[in-house]
Amino acid sequence: MDLDSRAREVMQDNDLGNYTVPTKGLYPYQWNWDSAFCALGFNTYSEDRAWLEIETLFASQWQSGFVPHIIFHKQDPNYFPGPDVWQSNTSPECTGITQPPVSASMILALWKSGDKRANKARLQAIFPKLVACHRWFYRTRDPLNKGLVLTVHPWETGRDNSPEWDAAARRIDTSEVGTYQRKDITHVNKDMRPLDEEYDRYITLLKFGRATQWDHDRIAKESPFKVIDVCMTMILSRADHDLMLLAEELGEAAIVEELKTRIALTRNNINYLWDDQLKAFCSKDLISGLPSGHITSASFLAFYADVGSQEQREYLLAHLDRIASKVKYLIPSLDPESDRFDSMRYWRGPVWSVVNYLAALGLKECGQSVWAQRILDDTRALVKESGFYEAFCPLTGAGTGGDHFTWTAAIWLYWLDI
Ligand code: GLC
Repeated sequence: MDLDSRAREVMQDNDLGNYTVPTKGLYPYQWNWDSAFCALGFNTYSEDRAWLEIETLFASQWQSGFVPHIIFHKQDPNYFPGPDVWQSNTSPECTGITQPPVSASMILALWKSGDKRANKARLQAIFPKLVACHRWFYRTRDPLNKGLVLTVHPWETGRDNSPEWDAAARRIDTSEVGTYQRKDITHVNKDMRPLDEEYDRYITLLKFGRATQWDHDRIAKESPFKVIDVCMTMILSRADHDLMLLAEELGEAAIVEELKTRIALTRNNINYLWDDQLKAFCSKDLISGLPSGHITSASFLAFYADVGSQEQREYLLAHLDRIASKVKYLIPSLDPESDRFDSMRYWRGPVWSVVNYLAALGLKECGQSVWAQRILDDTRALVKESGFYEAFCPLTGAGTGGDHFTWTAAIWLYWLDI
């Protein structure tokens, strides 16, 4: 079977009707940013199904505009921590944290390529929800008023065990975590997953949020883990831009202005995330005020967000060049020269197709088409060699994490299969 048909098969196997799971077993529910990427894949053969994926996600949006990171549509005993642990008190149940807000950007992609007359009513229906989601971020997750996104849980960032969280997470007191049983390592090799001590921190933070009954204002103030995340910041700012284009389509002049102001706010303050020693954009611990000290694939999303000076962009390209000389496949999720680089362990080394897609898109738009093409070629080669894995070893190309993975299949159909 050719890769195109296999990709569709992966998507169909993980499709539960109105939402898709990232992969059966390891991740048996609907995940926020996975669904948004997954819509791109559906869009190559069913516009209707593509829109439905994101519509289902936003059906679980809270009054406040918050969109959960997982929606527990139906119980699955093979996942931990499930709805009984999160206790959201919602229907369907969900988690009380969010994920990188890529949805507006993906809706723009669906809108641009699709039948505008047929999709107009759908755009009109989802648009205010996207606006509410972005406003939630600015109201609840921009403590510095600089257009820079605060995260309160590593799972929120979508980059669970990135070393960017190490220093900030070490402060979390896990002595009250209690006993629990990880299920992820019954599905996937332990060496490819976060460590037990990291899980203790994830669960401790979950319990902290739950004790506030998911009061997002309180969590943002009192959480023992508060980091300004470079990835979420770049993604939100780009999504503001894409939402602005949608607002123009709908003649929403006031919202266009609101978004312009926000885009400018981030652009003017992005230096807060510039680590002048490393010469790269990195996340920053809000409590200690210290930069993470790690160059990751998210550092290169500056192009996607169209932020940073010419000089900063040159430093980033020099890093990319250096990193490219150390690995076979771009972009490793961590600088391979870091002492924490671990080529098979999740966000400490492996290449992720979705981040590659965003980074390459940004580089291309900023006139760096040679780098964009190199990243596209590498991502395509990884899928051709190893299939639809969750992520890939940047040194050998071997698949890591879960197999039969929706977003890798979606990225193949949308971006690589050309
Ligand atoms: C892991 C990843 C996250 C993803 C989720 C479901 O937690 O780190 O980015 O959304 O799995 O695929």
